Amino acid sequence: MNAIAEGNYTAKLDLKPERLEGLSEKLIEQHWKLYEGYVDNVNLLRSALEDGLRGGKALSDQFLSEIERRLGFEYNGMVLHEYYFGALAPGLAEPGKSSKLALRFAKDFGTYENWKKRFSDIGKMRGVGWVMAAIDPSFGKLVNFWVSDHEVGHVAGFIPIIAMDMWEHAYILDYGAKADGRAAYIEAYFKNLDWRTIEDRWALADQGKIRPRAAVASLA
Ligand SMILES: [Fe+2]
Repeated sequence: MNAIAEGNYTAKLDLKPERLEGLSEKLIEQHWKLYEGYVDNVNLLRSALEDGLRGGKALSDQFLSEIERRLGFEYNGMVLHEYYFGALAPGLAEPGKSSKLALRFAKDFGTYENWKKRFSDIGKMRGVGWVMAAIDPSFGKLVNFWVSDHEVGHVAGFIPIIAMDMWEHAYILDYGAKADGRAAYIEAYFKNLDWRTIEDRWALADQGKIRPRAAVASLA
């Protein structure tokens, strides 16, 4: 077995959500296939780079440039989907007003509801990408921000707590292409957020650890 085969990423099947409310099995199935595509493409690009090293053959500037520029797109496409799928589960109520988790949102946004409204409003903006809620490790502060495509707009070193997929493929099958479909999807997304995982990620962020259970792809 060569070094590449040993280092391939694999889709993390344990993160695949089931029986969600308002997000159909068919939608999740199609979406999951897209995630698998990102995993495959990361492996392909890494393999092309590794082959160049192993063969001792210089890669052309154009080839190297194309691959290196695509890596951020494919890598983030893989990892963000793991944050996304890894925090979806049916039947968990949103944090109650006086819960420890709601108070944490309230610390930086006044109330949990304020945070949720701002996060949702970012998701309703036009464009494809992600809404992120992440911890600024300098102050332990929660920050929402938009990421275009998969890779444009990340803040280096911030620790993601929530990643909401706002590409059309995340909702169009169930909710259509109109703006109100986007809003209905966001509502469904919140009905299925796995708050235990969010809490877990937050606790790890407090400890300065970036690797929540569902966050980072593991090498096979
Ligand atoms: Fe997606």
